[in-house]
Amino acid sequence: MPIGVFDSGVGGLTVLKSLRAALPNQPFLYLADTANAPYGDRSVEEITALTRDALAHLFDRGCRLILIACNTASAIALRKLQQEWLPTLADGDSRRILGVFVPMVEAISGARWNSDGDPETAAAPAGRRRLLFFATAATISSGAFPREVAARVNGVEVIGQACPGLVDAIEAGDDAKAARFAQSACAEALARCGDFPPDTAILGCTHYPLAQPAFRAALPPRTNILSQPDITAVSLARYLERRPGFEENGADARLTRFLTSGDPDAVSALAERFWDEPARFEAA
Ligand code: DGL
Repeated sequence: MPIGVFDSGVGGLTVLKSLRAALPNQPFLYLADTANAPYGDRSVEEITALTRDALAHLFDRGCRLILIACNTASAIALRKLQQEWLPTLADGDSRRILGVFVPMVEAISGARWNSDGDPETAAAPAGRRRLLFFATAATISSGAFPREVAARVNGVEVIGQACPGLVDAIEAGDDAKAARFAQSACAEALARCGDFPPDTAILGCTHYPLAQPAFRAALPPRTNILSQPDITAVSLARYLERRPGFEENGADARLTRFLTSGDPDAVSALAERFWDEPARFEAA
C-alpha cells in the first residue's frame, strides 16, 4: 500500500526525496500532473478540479493516504476536498489527505496539530515575529498560509511574496535567470519589511529549494530559511507513528513508482534536475 504524493509537476520530487530519507521502508506512488502544470497561474476552480481528479486517480491505484506536496494545491484545494469531497467517497472515512502547510506552521510555532486541525501540543508563546513566505501567485492570492498561521500562532506577521517567472526558470534549468528572479523577489519583500527584518523565510513552492542559494545570498544572515521538504518529511513520519495503519512496514522503498499525466519520456528527462537517480515515469 503506497503513500500517494501529488504535485502539479516534478517539483514535488524535492519533497519525495526527503520523504524517502525519513521513511526508507515506505513505498510511495508519485503523481505529477505535468499535462496541466504549472498550477501557479490557474484559477481556483481549475486547481480544485485538477487536484480532485489527481487524488481520485491515486485512490483508485490503491493509496489510502495522500500527501499534497504542491503548495498551490494545498493552498487552494486541500481544505475543500478534505471537507466536501472526501466524505462523499464510499470509503472516505478510511482515507486521508494531508498538505504541506500544517507541518510549516508546526515548525514556526513549535506546536503540533492533528490532520483535523485540532491542537495536540501547546504552542510556545511567540514574541513579535515577522516571516517571509515566498510562493506562486495563486498561493499568495489565496491567503491560505497567513490564515493558517494566524489561526494557530500569536504574534507572527506573514509577508507573502510571489516570485513571477521563478518556477519556469528552474524548470528550464536556467540558474542565472532563476537567481535573478529569486533576488528581485527578496528585494521586493525586504523593502516591504522596512526596519523590522524577518526572522524566518519559507520557500513555499516545490521548486524554490533548487534556488535556495540565491535566496540565502539575498536575505539577511539572521533570517532563517526553513526547509519545507525536510519539515514535511518529519511531520509525515510523526503522523505515521500515531497512525501506523497507513504505513507499509518493512516494504522495499525501491517500489516507489512515478506517474505522469504528460509525456513519460519528457517528464523523466525533466525529473533529473530534481532527483538524484533516474526516475522512470509511466503514463498515469
Ligand atoms: N508545485 C507548485 C507549488 O508548489 C509549483 C509549480 C506550479 O505552479 O504548478 O506551488
